[in-house]
Amino acid sequence: MSKETMQSAIDRAQHVIEQQASEVAKTAMRQRYHFMGPCGWINDPNGLIYYKGKYHFFYQFNPYSGFWSQMHWGHAVSDDLLHWEHLPVALAPSEIYDDHPQGGCFSGSAIEKDGDLYLVYTGTANNGNGFEQTQNVAMSVDGVHFSKCEGNPVIEPPEGVPHDFFRDPKVWEHEGLYYLVCGAQRDGRAQALLYRSKDLLHWEFFNVLFESRGEWGFMWECPDFFPLGDKWVFLCSPMGIGERTTVYFVGDFDYGTGSFTYTVTGEADWGFDFYAPQTFQDGNGRRIMVGWANGWDWMPFWKDWGPTWREGWCGSFAVPREVRMNDDLTLSIMPVDEISTLRSEMAVLPPTIRLGEESTTLRVGDGVAYELGFSIDLMQTDAASIHLNLRQHDDRALVVDFDLAHARMSVNRDKADEWSKGTSRSPLSVQGKEKLDVILLSDQSSMEIFVDGGRVVHSMNVFADNEHNGISMYAKNGDAVLVDVKGYGLDAV
Ligand code: FRU
Repeated sequence: MSKETMQSAIDRAQHVIEQQASEVAKTAMRQRYHFMGPCGWINDPNGLIYYKGKYHFFYQFNPYSGFWSQMHWGHAVSDDLLHWEHLPVALAPSEIYDDHPQGGCFSGSAIEKDGDLYLVYTGTANNGNGFEQTQNVAMSVDGVHFSKCEGNPVIEPPEGVPHDFFRDPKVWEHEGLYYLVCGAQRDGRAQALLYRSKDLLHWEFFNVLFESRGEWGFMWECPDFFPLGDKWVFLCSPMGIGERTTVYFVGDFDYGTGSFTYTVTGEADWGFDFYAPQTFQDGNGRRIMVGWANGWDWMPFWKDWGPTWREGWCGSFAVPREVRMNDDLTLSIMPVDEISTLRSEMAVLPPTIRLGEESTTLRVGDGVAYELGFSIDLMQTDAASIHLNLRQHDDRALVVDFDLAHARMSVNRDKADEWSKGTSRSPLSVQGKEKLDVILLSDQSSMEIFVDGGRVVHSMNVFADNEHNGISMYAKNGDAVLVDVKGYGLDAV
């Protein structure tokens, strides 16, 4: 039997998508303003790029079921990062280097060269010697139809790097040369390997950009590396460091040596449903970060991907976020401004709310898809803590605690739904501050909480139905004053 070409594999996938997408679109747990695939399973954002005046998102995609398998690259375009048009599948497993059913076209990135669009991705195959990962290139003249390049694989794992720990290339261009960083492992520790090329097809190893001595895990998935101001940021999802899903490092990079040294590190998101983010620069020079709003079964807090597979889909992206550098070299990560265009009716709320032990309830939008913003006025607040119950119904809720006395916050999802569990915890810097601002973005199946100008973010999935629409809050051991309280319904339709 002759082997299937990529085009016939794409045609087969498109047929299934066309059969399923309209039914899946009507299902109850679909997000209302977050990015999702048309059906099937999605995980990492791939190849994020602003190309010829449009945003392009590619993503890890199994069109055939609500579970991970045989990775394709889905593809969609948008003018505003919020309303998406799905395009044909861009990459499908088809070649000896990327065709294993438990492998396929793994994560990678996109770059424009001479007006054409190039995708650089990891092929995962298994031809009898275990899983083998290599870096590969596909290109497109029209930005829609891609062909895999003849010279693939363009990079094979170097000596000493296990063949199944060599993946997720991120490319960029600098002064006429292309650079690529990918995740790898050596002696059981994570490494980021740096390559360079004149043409995207022929690559030479440049240096170990950055490595773990054990403290940062045994593998870095989806490394990203980008300049911000006069510093460089290395971002990755480390395997083997407990509950941290996405870590950033801020420091200096030298194009002469290909080496990165960091001085500051932090979490891009403390929540349990934010993984494998990728960043890109848009036409306005903004650095935008998009993450997969879910996690893997190997994670210590993982329980379930939720019930949406029964509706024929699984996975969405967290809201696109803009990344900025603070004076102390930490990052602030906030929803892109475009989110405000989704606001429907404004909630009738008092601009100032005084909280005590009695619970105060609020109504914002339908209590499911909404934005709620306020600042904790620390000068007028003597309470030890403030507590929010979100997506509340009977004794179920996602519980957010701002523990002001101990300068920390937590988000507990044990009672939010039947599928999730665990409490994400982070520090909260209150000392010397007059106010602490909070923005909640709630959607059908997720809650994202941005605090302190985006210095602290927690993103969690909540698989609850529309009766779970309560919002209530109270303070403990004193009073708390919330100012600048504002709320809106949110909807992308
Ligand atoms: C991260 C990841 C990547 C890999 C892809 C496979 O979530 O495990 O390392 O390329 O997903 O779908």
